[in-house]
Amino acid sequence: MERTWIIDTLQKTGQEVVLKGWVHVRRDMGKLIFIDLRDRSGICQVVFLPNHKEALEEAARLRPEFVVEIRGQVNARPEKQVNANSPTGTIEIEALALTILNTAETPPFDVAQDTQPINEELRMKYRYLDLRTERMKKNIMLRDRVVAFFRRYMGEHDFLEIETPIMMKGTPEGSREYIVPSRLQKGKFYVLPQSPQQFKQLLMVSGLERYFQIARCFRDEDSRGDRQPEFTQLDYEMSFITQEDILQYTEAMFIEMVKQTAPEKHLSTVPFPRLTYAESMEKFGHDKPDLRKNPEDPNELAFCWVLDFPMFEEGDDGSLQAKHHPFCSVKPEDVAKLDNEPLSVRANSYDLVLNGYELASGSIRIHEQTMQQKIFNLLNISKEEQESRFGHMLNAFTYGAPPHGGIAPGIDRIVMILANEPSIREVIAFPKTAEGRDLLMGAPSVVAQQQLDELGIQIKER
Ligand code: AMO
Repeated sequence: MERTWIIDTLQKTGQEVVLKGWVHVRRDMGKLIFIDLRDRSGICQVVFLPNHKEALEEAARLRPEFVVEIRGQVNARPEKQVNANSPTGTIEIEALALTILNTAETPPFDVAQDTQPINEELRMKYRYLDLRTERMKKNIMLRDRVVAFFRRYMGEHDFLEIETPIMMKGTPEGSREYIVPSRLQKGKFYVLPQSPQQFKQLLMVSGLERYFQIARCFRDEDSRGDRQPEFTQLDYEMSFITQEDILQYTEAMFIEMVKQTAPEKHLSTVPFPRLTYAESMEKFGHDKPDLRKNPEDPNELAFCWVLDFPMFEEGDDGSLQAKHHPFCSVKPEDVAKLDNEPLSVRANSYDLVLNGYELASGSIRIHEQTMQQKIFNLLNISKEEQESRFGHMLNAFTYGAPPHGGIAPGIDRIVMILANEPSIREVIAFPKTAEGRDLLMGAPSVVAQQQLDELGIQIKER
């Protein structure tokens, strides 16, 4: 007999079904035994009665988290026994046969309870158990809906999903990079992408016009609530567009995304308010304004755009740094100030902010070699370094690069806010600790001497 999802038993009153799942809770009443059976779709009550003796005897062995197969009859509950708090509270399964598919040790924490109060390191070590809990399962399923929505929406709007390399050459986006040693080219290294920025621009030079990717990004920086060393962007780029086109496309997509994936939410203001960076700094003292009307309302979403970021900022050592990245184009009216007042030059760059979090950043890019060289020069990157680090970009721009631009919303932050979670760790299946450790597998870890020898790597003793 085909297995039935627990949630579908609601439509099968009076019928026999086969259910498979985990023992969520067990209540032994002596003459009869109740269990709550759990699968991904939900939880239902199963009763073992004395008239099915074999099943009842076997049920005496059940403990929480045992894996079972149950053949049973779906019965409507008498009105008095209906459990209004449970989605399957109107029915009950009368067990006819029970097979124990696997036993389980007592878990280190109760997966029938919310694990928010449990020590997070313990939850991470036993993440596969933590993900059994209702809240974590819901978060993972919400994330799936959000990603599936974006994929569908992008496809419907003529974007091509294109994978770009994970092993690449450095990207200049400000953070430290993770490096991967090459065995075949001893002493040389790949780096993991901080974002697919350069590849997506090169795809525009290729004439593919509209690209997107659910892109894994890697940054060797200190983690915190809204930051992980690896995270996921909805990365996209378009040719022949203006900043206004990107803002409008992105805004319409987010409005539809909320409607389809989190209908309980409401948007404070549509169209999304727009502030310049200068206005935001003056009014709020930072560039991530929280414009919620009622910060106590868990369902309020206050999106806003912050526009016209400065092209440059001063680094700790007083040197000129790119505020977003060096590929942003400059406002035409500010080009004349590049040489004398670079810090007052504004880029064609924009952030999407939600409830005080930076959700996305993007810009209209430079597509001309001379302007890109000028920006590199201002950033004090020597001609040799420009050639060695960015020669491929500068070259590509000489072969008919179209005007282009894009943006990249962070998926983890979006899902965190939709799920009302305080940290993106709660919406990532296997996150890392603040120190970048994976407690489940134990990464990072030492590797065998032979592996190091093959790579020509020697570890310095401290
Ligand atoms: P940026 O570096 O601003 O832009 O990143 C875009 C978005 O990615 C998310 N994000 C992160 N999420 C979790 N953990 C992190 N460590 C982390 N860092 C960034 C945020 C952020 O808004 N290539 C450009 C985009 C472009 O110009 O098109 C870029 O990566 O939500």
